[in-house]
Amino acid sequence: MTDTIRGEVGIRHAGADGSAHGRVESTPAEELNRSELAELQLERLRETLHHAYENVPCYRRKFDAAGIRPQDCSRLSDLAKFPTTTKEDLRANYPDGMFAVPQERLSRVHASSGTTGNPTIVGYTERDLNHWAEVVARSIRAAGGRPGHKVHIAYGYGLFTGGLGAHYGAERLGCTVIPASGGMTERQVRLIHDLRPEIIMITPSYMLTLLDEFRRQGIDPRSTSLRIGIFGAEPWTAEMRAEIEESAGIDAVDIYGLSEVMGPGVASECATTKDGPHIWEDHFYPEVIDPATGESLPDGTHGELVFTSLTKEATPVIRYRTRDLTRLLPGTDHPAMRRMEKVTGRTDDMILLRGVNVFPGQIEDLVLRQPGLSPHFQLELTRRGRLDELCVRVETDGETASGDPAASTALATSIKDAVGVSAAVEIVAPETLQRSTGKSRRVLDLREG
Ligand code: DLL
Repeated sequence: MTDTIRGEVGIRHAGADGSAHGRVESTPAEELNRSELAELQLERLRETLHHAYENVPCYRRKFDAAGIRPQDCSRLSDLAKFPTTTKEDLRANYPDGMFAVPQERLSRVHASSGTTGNPTIVGYTERDLNHWAEVVARSIRAAGGRPGHKVHIAYGYGLFTGGLGAHYGAERLGCTVIPASGGMTERQVRLIHDLRPEIIMITPSYMLTLLDEFRRQGIDPRSTSLRIGIFGAEPWTAEMRAEIEESAGIDAVDIYGLSEVMGPGVASECATTKDGPHIWEDHFYPEVIDPATGESLPDGTHGELVFTSLTKEATPVIRYRTRDLTRLLPGTDHPAMRRMEKVTGRTDDMILLRGVNVFPGQIEDLVLRQPGLSPHFQLELTRRGRLDELCVRVETDGETASGDPAASTALATSIKDAVGVSAAVEIVAPETLQRSTGKSRRVLDLREG
């Protein structure tokens, strides 16, 4: 791939102005209008298709089988004719079959958290890492972060992309990084108390754990130095945003990403609008397809999000099926870049319960709407005979008694009304359910087979 892609940009720092109010310059790519952006995307797309076809046997085989060549792409809409790529393709080529550059050119690898089967390994050249830092810096700036701010990073460091991805982006913006990583919750509270960061980057479920720990140590979470939270790596609802903003006294924005496509910073929300993550479309080209038929859907229609990388050298992805359910919306704060609606479910998160589709996010919504309950809940699926059963276990907020029959009936009724399934509800005491220190595990599936 040529090293001189047009529109190549780096973050220009705001000089000495580290104040939260000073204007910090955006990258030139953020200022393109929609047609300039489309021109840049097409140029980068065509290069990426050639790069993948020429250097990754899996893509060559798939394109050949579909009877399509990189040169058949003369408009952005031609991308829909190319075959999609799935997690299974990446797994089948474990560990290095998807690399499009020789190993000596890799600066780093990460892996996605595979709970079943092979994990997937993704590689980054120096230039890929540079782009990644740039989009994360852009994301932090969109959240209101400025050079000179202190950023507490509680995403896990290591093979997971959260920690290191956030780290280099924050440094790129000119922030001071506190690389706390996940876990050791007591120490996290102490670090925040003593080092006074303005920004925290953390999973929303771990933030809940942290908020509890603040209270346990007798510190009002609203009294801390934190002003901005950049939350991602797992689905969280609008109700959860309200809960976190209220308890912590911060602006909470959504950062989205996945290791196969880059890591955090594929898309991120602007603090001024809080209306869903803007996709950094100069690096990642989004589509939404019907998950059942694979057919491309127009913007505004719900379906499965698919990404094609536009600048990645080490592991380019062509039409990668994320399994995340959302829809594409027009840009607002960044008018040329489309937004994605907050992801509240995945095709593989969906629980099929007696014929009804249930998403953990729907239950989260209802739990948070009911006074007297905490945001800590778990869904347990069991099978009795041939019938699947769902038990929703929720902790009280400490005021309501555990086992409170009125509270469990109220939640069971709202689940029946809103989702259409009967569920058993158990109201349990605070601190009963396992706490998250990273991505939470909401669903416990004890069904066999
Ligand atoms: O979770 C990358 C990341 C780290 C994103 C830190 C944001 C912050 P993976 O481990 O590969 O990568 O998991 C990717 O997590 O396909 C979604 O299902 C889910 N996910 C990530 N961000 C969000 C979000 C990282 N903001 C998978 N909202 C994705 C909902 C999210 N789901």
